[in-house]
Amino acid sequence: MSKRFYITTAIDYVNGAPHLGHAYEKVVADVIARARRSVGEPVFFLTGLDEHGQKVQLAAQALGQSPQAYCDGLADQWGDFVRRLSLTNDDFVRTTQPRHREVVQAILSKLHAEGHFYKASYQGYYSVKEETFLTEKDRNPDGTWDPKWGQVNELVEENWYFRMGVHQDWLVAHIEANPSFIQPDYRRNEVLGFLRSQKLEDLCITRPEARLSWGIPLPFDPGFVTYVWFDALVNYFSVPASLGDPAATGPLGAHYPARDARLEAWPADIHLVGKDILKFHAVYWPIMLKAVGAPLPKTVLVHGWWQKNGEKLSKTTGNVVDPIAVIEEWGVDAFRYYVTRELGIGPDGNWTDDGFKSRYNAELANGLGNLLNRAVNMLNKYRDGVVPKASSFLAAEAAQAVAKTRAAYLEPAPQDALVATWELVNRANLYVEQTKPFSLAKDPTKAVELDEVLYNLVETCRILAVLIWPVMPGTSEKIFAQLKVCAEPSDWNQSAWGGLQESHQVGAPVPLFPRKDLPPKK
Ligand code: MSP
Repeated sequence: MSKRFYITTAIDYVNGAPHLGHAYEKVVADVIARARRSVGEPVFFLTGLDEHGQKVQLAAQALGQSPQAYCDGLADQWGDFVRRLSLTNDDFVRTTQPRHREVVQAILSKLHAEGHFYKASYQGYYSVKEETFLTEKDRNPDGTWDPKWGQVNELVEENWYFRMGVHQDWLVAHIEANPSFIQPDYRRNEVLGFLRSQKLEDLCITRPEARLSWGIPLPFDPGFVTYVWFDALVNYFSVPASLGDPAATGPLGAHYPARDARLEAWPADIHLVGKDILKFHAVYWPIMLKAVGAPLPKTVLVHGWWQKNGEKLSKTTGNVVDPIAVIEEWGVDAFRYYVTRELGIGPDGNWTDDGFKSRYNAELANGLGNLLNRAVNMLNKYRDGVVPKASSFLAAEAAQAVAKTRAAYLEPAPQDALVATWELVNRANLYVEQTKPFSLAKDPTKAVELDEVLYNLVETCRILAVLIWPVMPGTSEKIFAQLKVCAEPSDWNQSAWGGLQESHQVGAPVPLFPRKDLPPKK
């Protein structure tokens, strides 16, 4: 067994329906995972659901359901979402699963035994919505609380705290010494700026059961449940541990029962998360792992947030994009293409319906779709669908696109990968304009030139299918099917020039992306 490339997404809260932001993160993670598999790396891709905490308890109560029944209902919907997005996740974690709870409790027991926690009384303000304690610093100058905190209650309560003081210096040193630990760089600088200028306060890791019962019971003090973030972050580690990954089970020692090793994945190579949860992943999570004695993840990769028409996505104002509705209308590959191509990993993005349609028409229908259609159509029309003698006019440019696309996928910069791939799409379409095969076909003395053009076109389409597979697996397979190629487009080795053999018979042309702005044919 060898260590797999391990990529995770944030686990989504179950209190609501999936939206564009959730879909984007999951698709980008899937593209990275698929690209790694395509080049032959073993991968473990994990996503899932964050099911504990006050928000879920309140949402369930409002519906008169038990929190577990409420989560089970929504988990089905989210499981369906994962399938609709064509994700290739290897596992799906739910924080209510016993396999997860056991690891959270093992970590708590170990850290408690080693003196990382203390119990203390707190008097102050609490935001139910954000499940966090507030201080006077969080108050507006006029004494009110920002609406983002929701209802703010004053309370006095005992809780368990995790000592942070001893961790600040090594964490700063670690981030300084490992530039790839937090990416992009401006997010890394943000964390460094914060850690250099402020003293980390101890982290409250419990909630009294009397106030919040929907959580993982604290193994060493029955009156408390675990703070939802301490519980949720552990998902990345609990799944490998439950599958016997020695790098995860080892540090837990006697606190966790031994089991057969069925996976080697820890440490994670990439935690892909949104910018709002950076501090949890770049500060608390490494501290938790260091205290446990486990290796740290290699990269926390931080993406931006989507808006729609320049405004925040919001159920209340109705400013939403329903990914499933888009997929039903345009197909899952078009959705995956658009979100990957439109927004690189880092900045914020803006969804507009016009922007979506314009990329669909220009880049998919007129770009890739038209290229394949012309290539297969002309080969059928002029050569009965039989591949002519090999020619390598576009081979060097194809090889360049292959290399650039591959490097970008592995970076990982999936947006750049698509840009590099489309350079080849555009080059091949230009080649058609320049060589005018429809004119060559009219002149029998130009038969050799026509053969050459036709070979270069279909061979380029075959290679393009391999390059787009991580983003548009369905389309990629359709191209291979039309070309009647038996190999798998999911194998990067298939991107080498010369795969199509002379005399090979291709199939009939079928449009990949029907144009949506034209009235349907009568
Ligand atoms: N449950 C926590 C994560 C725990 S990870 C150990 C959570 N859940 S969430 O459902 O609110 O968000 C899940 C992911 O979706 C986060 O990475 C978040 O940044 C991302 N997004 C939520 N809204 C988004 C946009 N509008 N745009 C892009 N991503 C967004 O936080």
